[in-house]
Amino acid sequence: MKIGVLTGGGDCPGLNAVIRAVVKKGYLMGYEFIGIKDGWRGLIEGAYMPLTREKVSGIHPIGGTILGTSRTNPFKSEESTKRMFNNIRELGLDCIVAIGGEDTLGVATKVYSKGVNVVGVPKTIDNDLSGTDFTFGFDTAVNIVTWALDRLHTTTEAHHRVMVVEVMGRHAGWIALYSGIAGGADVILIPEKPFDIEEVCGYVEKRKGEGKHSSLIVVAEGAYPKEAGGMITKDTALDAFGHVKLGGVGEFLAKEVEKRTGIETRYVVLGHLQRGGTPSAYDRVLATRFGVRAVELIGEGKFGRMVALRGQDIVDVSLEEATKEIKTVNMDLYEVAEIFFG
Ligand code: F6P
Repeated sequence: MKIGVLTGGGDCPGLNAVIRAVVKKGYLMGYEFIGIKDGWRGLIEGAYMPLTREKVSGIHPIGGTILGTSRTNPFKSEESTKRMFNNIRELGLDCIVAIGGEDTLGVATKVYSKGVNVVGVPKTIDNDLSGTDFTFGFDTAVNIVTWALDRLHTTTEAHHRVMVVEVMGRHAGWIALYSGIAGGADVILIPEKPFDIEEVCGYVEKRKGEGKHSSLIVVAEGAYPKEAGGMITKDTALDAFGHVKLGGVGEFLAKEVEKRTGIETRYVVLGHLQRGGTPSAYDRVLATRFGVRAVELIGEGKFGRMVALRGQDIVDVSLEEATKEIKTVNMDLYEVAEIFFG
């Protein structure tokens, strides 16, 4: 059995732990592996690397991905689609393990529908993939943001300021919500619930009235004010999957809060810090369990499936189901967070 492994989309702590688990488990089953470089782009351009037990030894604590990644969509042109399928045939791949988020696994679903065996592993720091309770990488990102919030609290308090902290989360506010609760944010703003700038200022002023001269606001990059009617973007360029480049809501909100409350307001954009570096112990374990189960699925001939976490158990779901729509935050949890606003 010859298996291709690829990692696509934004990188995510735990990718290397999945690769290691896939290869080590697969070797026990007598499988052979080929590393496909830079996601689906490697299959279009014919860029591969050997993936042996030696190559993956000890890589589980390392951030990034030894295979490289890209946001290339092979179905963007007929030519790239043709080249990808030709290369899959020429390589003699019996199966592809695709480790990615909604876009990479969306491609995997399409590739599977054209008759290629595929198994998916859910990756994204945003935790917005359906079919799984959690994706690996999310726990690490939440820990990094919580670490940052703990530090921002003290400097913000010392200067009697308002601090707006912009975190990742395009269409879902999981990182903002979890880290905001853990880090004791005074307001948390998520894409699922367009916010009212006056209400946000009201929380800041209420705190001031109670003698608290500093406030910490966590805002997901995809959150937007009701009056803007849509997401705030840096520029209008689209990536290969048609996403705009987000960013700017933190700066926008900081200016508005300062203008409307008269309190000095700063902003911090945590950006790619949230996805770089070593995975948390939780993510290493989850990534390892996902990788092992992905190879077991191949052994059982269960293709077109994605490994997933349900409660404490690793299960599998259909790739088609998992990529139909994104998983937005649980609003019951947002209501818990709201208790601590202001
Ligand atoms: O992978 C998802 C994500 O983390 C989003 O939250 C964010 O909008 C995007 O990646 C940014 O990634 P890049 O800068 O690599 O395009």
